[in-house]
Amino acid sequence: MQNTKSPDNFPVAGVIGHPITHSLSPALHNHWLKKMGLPGRYESRDVAPADCARFFADLRNGKVGWVGCNVTLPHKIVALDHCDVLSDAAKKIGAVNTIIVRNGKLHGDNTDWLGFSENLLSWAAFRAVPKNRAVVIGAGGAARGVIYGLQQLGFGDIIVVNRTVEKLQDLRDDFGIAVDSLASLPKHIGAANLLVNATSLGLKGEMLPVDFTTLPRGILLHDIIYGAHLTHFLTTGKEFGFAVKDGLGMLIHQGIPGFKAWFKTDKNPPVDDDLRHYLLSQKK
Ligand code: ATR
Repeated sequence: MQNTKSPDNFPVAGVIGHPITHSLSPALHNHWLKKMGLPGRYESRDVAPADCARFFADLRNGKVGWVGCNVTLPHKIVALDHCDVLSDAAKKIGAVNTIIVRNGKLHGDNTDWLGFSENLLSWAAFRAVPKNRAVVIGAGGAARGVIYGLQQLGFGDIIVVNRTVEKLQDLRDDFGIAVDSLASLPKHIGAANLLVNATSLGLKGEMLPVDFTTLPRGILLHDIIYGAHLTHFLTTGKEFGFAVKDGLGMLIHQGIPGFKAWFKTDKNPPVDDDLRHYLLSQKK
């Protein structure tokens, strides 16, 4: 007998990671539950790498008592091996960030790419530009979701640059895109409509090695990092007169498919400035 409901009989979901205290997902989902008047609760749980197998087994057999979960660092890749069914996106990106428990099976999906593309589509400047060439900086796990999202958005010409060129080979093979070293960025930027920072550079106030004087007019600048203040990359870009967008909307939008499945609603939860301000106020 599965127990994926709380004793009060409302659905409970959550997020696992290690550490987990910085996750904004509980604030996001509990805010939506309250705003939409839906019964349910969203929790967080610190699961150490050594305890992952046990956790996923208990999620499947109902002992955890959750209808599903989000998975964050460092478990997104290992979660692939514990799911019974994987979406095409999870397989292609090579990571799971959303799990739904259905009929005793763990259905693993990756919605990071959707969060990325929906965030861009919510931006009027983005909707107005041609979806031709995009340049992505970074070759980590986050970059894989970004590249998949760009391909779904219809970008035919995607170039990924990275400091460590050895990390680019898998991306080139898996996604059929062009790759080059970070130092070669100026060579590729001329015809681009969009430049995305998918590295962690900027989280601690660092600056990306981008020469803004070489950027083409009208290029859009997007950083997947978010916070109360824009990253150096985006503030400088703004000073140079470029349109810029941060990554908070990516976090918000990646949560929507899980929310709708776990808490059984067809309605999209609200995404507005109130939510943005609330989440930033909860950031530790
Ligand atoms: P995630 O899974 O969040 O993408 P990651 O796998 O650690 O995290 O990848 C971090 C990305 O930031 C990588 O592309 C990394 O470049 P390297 O592959 O060369 O390490 C990039 N990055 C981090 N610090 C950097 C720095 N100081 N200069 C340039 N790139 C950096």
